[in-house]
Amino acid sequence: MTQQTLTVFLAGRSELSLKKLQLELQGIPHAVIESLWIPAVEVDPLGYLTTRPDIVVLELGVDPDAELANLGKTPLHLRPVIFLIGPPDNTVLMRKALQAGVRDYFVRPADANEVAAALRRVVKEKLESGSRYGQLNVFMNAKGGSGATLIASNVAHIMSAELGIATALFDFDFQFGSVGLNFDLHATHTTAGVISDIDEVDLVALEAYMSKHRSGLSVLTHSSQEISLPGEIPEAKVKRLIELSRRLFDQIVVDIPRLFDPVLARVIDEADRFVLVMQQSVAHVRDTKRLLQILRNDMNVPDQRLLVVVNRYSERSSMSLAELKQTLRFNHVYALPNDYQNVAQSTNIGQPLLEFAANAEITRGLISLAELLTGRQRRPAKNLIQRLFPFLD
Ligand SMILES: Nc1ncnc2c1ncn2[C@@H]1O[C@H](COP(=O)(O)OP(=O)(O)O)[C@@H](O)[C@H]1O
Ligand SMILES: [Mg+2]
Repeated sequence: MTQQTLTVFLAGRSELSLKKLQLELQGIPHAVIESLWIPAVEVDPLGYLTTRPDIVVLELGVDPDAELANLGKTPLHLRPVIFLIGPPDNTVLMRKALQAGVRDYFVRPADANEVAAALRRVVKEKLESGSRYGQLNVFMNAKGGSGATLIASNVAHIMSAELGIATALFDFDFQFGSVGLNFDLHATHTTAGVISDIDEVDLVALEAYMSKHRSGLSVLTHSSQEISLPGEIPEAKVKRLIELSRRLFDQIVVDIPRLFDPVLARVIDEADRFVLVMQQSVAHVRDTKRLLQILRNDMNVPDQRLLVVVNRYSERSSMSLAELKQTLRFNHVYALPNDYQNVAQSTNIGQPLLEFAANAEITRGLISLAELLTGRQRRPAKNLIQRLFPFLD
């Protein structure tokens, strides 16, 4: 799976111009800048590379013709996008550069802002032409307090931190959303806010709007200051948010309230996986049965997309898992244990369970659930040698 980050190789000939450019380019989302000072007499700057960058920003040295000739030697389909910075008033050189497939030519000393703007455009194009189509996992509870928000939040965190997948988590409970409680995050934008601006948002902007957890997980939460009434969120905008997110992330986790309205019907319709979270009680079983019926019959969600999670499951309870499956007439049922202490404490300090209690039974259950949903396995545990000498990795 490709990581949606582009590498940019910045090759400069003077320390000062290199520093200036580096500073300006560093803030570009989705781009990792590697910069290197290269002697002005060197005629094969790309020869310094050990990996293949997506984009090269190259300041020409004392023999631009020889450099251009060397650039042209790389087969076109392996050639990165190239930006050149070179001498002014040399139309022959500029023309040659453009013929060699160079994307843009900046006259020295290059305006760092201009180079950054050009780079932003290329990053955006490259991302938009990508073939990524992320999977949408929708979580809903069968009754308030079942644990849907806790499970959605932690599964998303595990996908990102443990399985190494580019993942987004959206809080779609526009009235009482509480995803934010599971993370210590300072959100600048909310789900409802981003949806309302979505027609003006492209992939790069969407990425920038989202709060980044230290695990790499991108999050959009709800703010307790805002409340959206049914009908205030246009369905078409939600559709666009999902479309853009699928191109930006490999897994998208959405926490939705137990409610059927046109917006949530749209989300359910788009879901590749629908997880219904319940607990082991007669009232929960009754509501789960009813919801399964609506989802399967009225909303045409195929069985293979549906999964029921029995949260806080205990073998000591009067209803076994087998009985539960029988009563629900549904077999895709997954159980998660109760763990009041770890769950309460991790939520109190806003630390996901994988960080707070990595070896707890509930965390292991959540890891297996994330693996089940993504079809991906966690990275193998490091052996002793690797742990002692991490740089051998
Ligand atoms: N497996 C569990 N063990 C212990 N406490 C849990 C567990 N799952 C959820 N909780 C707690 O139950 C409460 C309700 O969870 P929440 O995720 O908000 O439910 P929902 O989103 O279904 O309304 C929260 O306080 C949460 O921390
Ligand atoms: Mg909830």
